[in-house]
Amino acid sequence: MSLFKLSPNSLKEKKGKESIVAITAYDYISAKLAEESKMDFILIGDSGAMVVLGHEDTYSIGMEEMLMFCKAVSRGAPNTLRIGDMPFLSYQVSKEQAILNAGRFVKEGRCHGVKVEGGEETAETIQAIVKAGIPVLGHIGLTPQRSMELGGLKVQGKTIESAQKLLNDAIALEEAGVFAIILECVPSELSKIITEKIKVPTIGIGAGPFTDGQILVFHDVVGLFPEMRPKFVKTYCNGFETFKKALCEYVKDCKEKKFPSEKESFKISKEALEAVLNKT
Ligand code: KIV
Repeated sequence: MSLFKLSPNSLKEKKGKESIVAITAYDYISAKLAEESKMDFILIGDSGAMVVLGHEDTYSIGMEEMLMFCKAVSRGAPNTLRIGDMPFLSYQVSKEQAILNAGRFVKEGRCHGVKVEGGEETAETIQAIVKAGIPVLGHIGLTPQRSMELGGLKVQGKTIESAQKLLNDAIALEEAGVFAIILECVPSELSKIITEKIKVPTIGIGAGPFTDGQILVFHDVVGLFPEMRPKFVKTYCNGFETFKKALCEYVKDCKEKKFPSEKESFKISKEALEAVLNKT
């Protein structure tokens, strides 16, 4: 296995000292960009189902597609901590299957750990994966693989009952042995309480400024997914418009015979050209 800068355990040591920054990536180039931007870790997220494969949610993606993303990201970011996202039904059926599938992320996808959605209800499975020697990143709050049950992609923990549930979930995950927990779409003050209550780092996405770290989806940061722009996203460039403009200029240049010019073309020697001409 290659030498990556941070191990899941060393990420834990950053809590209270330094903000942790992460991003999702799905292919060689997004991974290379993430590594060159010095991300603390990369999540090969099942959000790739939507932003790369065009599905309307994350339910449809499977192990083989996730492993293909992981292999490409591992080639693009060989020196960055890489966590593979376990897709829907790859860990819910049995602990044995969960361990085997988590193992595939390590053996085939060359990941250094896996992410598993869910709180108390998933804690036993997470513990089994951790016991098998595979580091696990937890994920609570808005868990897209439960969006049917949650009634959509909604902020979680707004009521007394659901806020208490989230705190219990975080404690259960810490006890199960996760190295960090993603809090997705959780009110800032509740994220603060959870962050102060547990010893492992919290990584927020739509969870306000008080978590130990932040994570965003690559396509959201660079403005490549205009179909959906959640409130919590900060977009740092308009990638879609920039790329579209470039592609439109390419089309225009070709139609107007401005591309390729001599600069982008190859030359043949005079002798070879004459020989060919004489043969025709
Ligand atoms: O799949 C994903 O990209 C995620 C992040 C949003 C945390 O789970």
